[in-house]
Amino acid sequence: MMNRREALLGIGAGTAGVLAGVRPFRYWADTLGTVSAFEPDVDIALVAAPDAVQLRPGARTRVWRFTGSVIKGAANSVQAVPNSYLGPTLRFKRGQKVRIRFRNNLAEPSIVHWHGLDVPELADGHPRFAIAPGAEYVYEFEVINRAGTYWYHPHAHGSTGKQVYQGLAGMLVVTDDGERALALPSGNEDLVCLLQDRTIDSGNQFAYLAGGMMDQMHGLLGTTMLVNGQERASFALATRAYRFRILNASSSRVYKLTWDDGTPMTVVGADGGLLARPLQQPFLTLAPSQRADVILDLSNHAVGTSIQLRSAPFTGSEVSIDESGMMGGRGRGMMGGMMGGTAGTGTPNGASLLLMTVQVSRKEQSAFRLPAQLSNYGPEWAEQAGAPVRNISLDFRAGQWLLGGRVFDMMGVAPDEIVRAGSTHIWEIKNVGGMMGQQMAHPLHVHGTQFRVLSRTRPADATTPAQSVREGLVDEGWRDTVLVMPNDTLRLQLRFTQFPGMYLYHCHILEHEDAGMMRNFKVTA
Ligand code: C2O
Ligand code: CU
Ligand code: CU
Repeated sequence: MMNRREALLGIGAGTAGVLAGVRPFRYWADTLGTVSAFEPDVDIALVAAPDAVQLRPGARTRVWRFTGSVIKGAANSVQAVPNSYLGPTLRFKRGQKVRIRFRNNLAEPSIVHWHGLDVPELADGHPRFAIAPGAEYVYEFEVINRAGTYWYHPHAHGSTGKQVYQGLAGMLVVTDDGERALALPSGNEDLVCLLQDRTIDSGNQFAYLAGGMMDQMHGLLGTTMLVNGQERASFALATRAYRFRILNASSSRVYKLTWDDGTPMTVVGADGGLLARPLQQPFLTLAPSQRADVILDLSNHAVGTSIQLRSAPFTGSEVSIDESGMMGGRGRGMMGGMMGGTAGTGTPNGASLLLMTVQVSRKEQSAFRLPAQLSNYGPEWAEQAGAPVRNISLDFRAGQWLLGGRVFDMMGVAPDEIVRAGSTHIWEIKNVGGMMGQQMAHPLHVHGTQFRVLSRTRPADATTPAQSVREGLVDEGWRDTVLVMPNDTLRLQLRFTQFPGMYLYHCHILEHEDAGMMRNFKVTA
């Protein structure tokens, strides 16, 4: 059934692709005298447009950037990231009603998705809602998510990877009273870190898919690490505790994060907000689109010292295996050689990387104590014994990565992809890989919900050589993205959104998503 707005937009059955020249749906509604009763607490304008920034000496780097402004609501609802071309951090409180007027001033279609948020279908940024250059799309939703670290990025089909690569990404932080009562580091002690890798050419420009089809097959890997859009990023901090909201906003790179002085990674939050209790571990594996909130307490560090956030080395074949020789896995294969060394032009996954430096630059008194109990996962966390189980394979056939044996179809929904609003299902995700031995770790993402990872298993005879990435994996807490390692089987318990409509699940390696490792699922009323 189409609702009235959909009918007006012509986005019912059979219509796919870009809605050229479409005006915001509110415009139509207003014209017809059916003004929605939606009264926003926060009203924001967000524009995507080309710009140029001084990243390196010499030529300015052309970027695409989000800029935002507050029409109504607290001034800090839109907070620019210092010295960065990345999108502003949007800060909302749970329960707020938000309107975002997105204007596309790019030369190509685009649409924005609020990654991790549970919002009505029309506010989710499905690619079929992509708007033409010059057009505006008005989002209206209530923030019902838990306090946590979410983010936003374009979702135009086939060009998500490129648009994010050009700079279109930003953080979206949700707060609530329960979290505030914990007195975690806030204000100037609450910092965002967007991790990305880019290949910057000799003319100082971002070179998307510099590795050609190898980048599309394996996911793009860059050569330069950027934190908040800066090379060799550095934070000058005081001797107190900080909360780093870390987002892996890279196309396909997996980070194995560690502080180089042996300080453990103290993880307090995942994709869907605070963990029940803090975790302390030497490494933290972060897959594309995953978030981790990390506390770094500098109160016992001497002024003048510094700490590096690094990605520790691991064996690249843990996350990308290609025994076929046909596809040129990272320069080993026949085609990689034939293509004149275009395979693997980026720094491979597993390389030891410097991400950023924290300089302890001034003495300040602080009495921070990390609470032993952080949050309660709520009644949905309980295991639902009788929930329907769906099996979904991740594999590779005929030159394509497949999700449940299928590729993306803009309006297509298969019978096993239809679920009832608010129902709970178990998805059993199995990473089987291709017949010729191509296998990759795929970060699987589901829209409109946060799920629980019930289990992660692998056959006893699994031949994956090393276990290094696994030692940093955090499957705890509410998640919207999980890294399905080669040979793994994951059981996820999902409680679907209460909002009927068509949503997406996909691999968050952006090149895999763009190539069709994505599917709709339909939530019925
Ligand atoms: Cu972060 Cu469907 O996306
Ligand atoms: Cu999403
Ligand atoms: Cu993938």
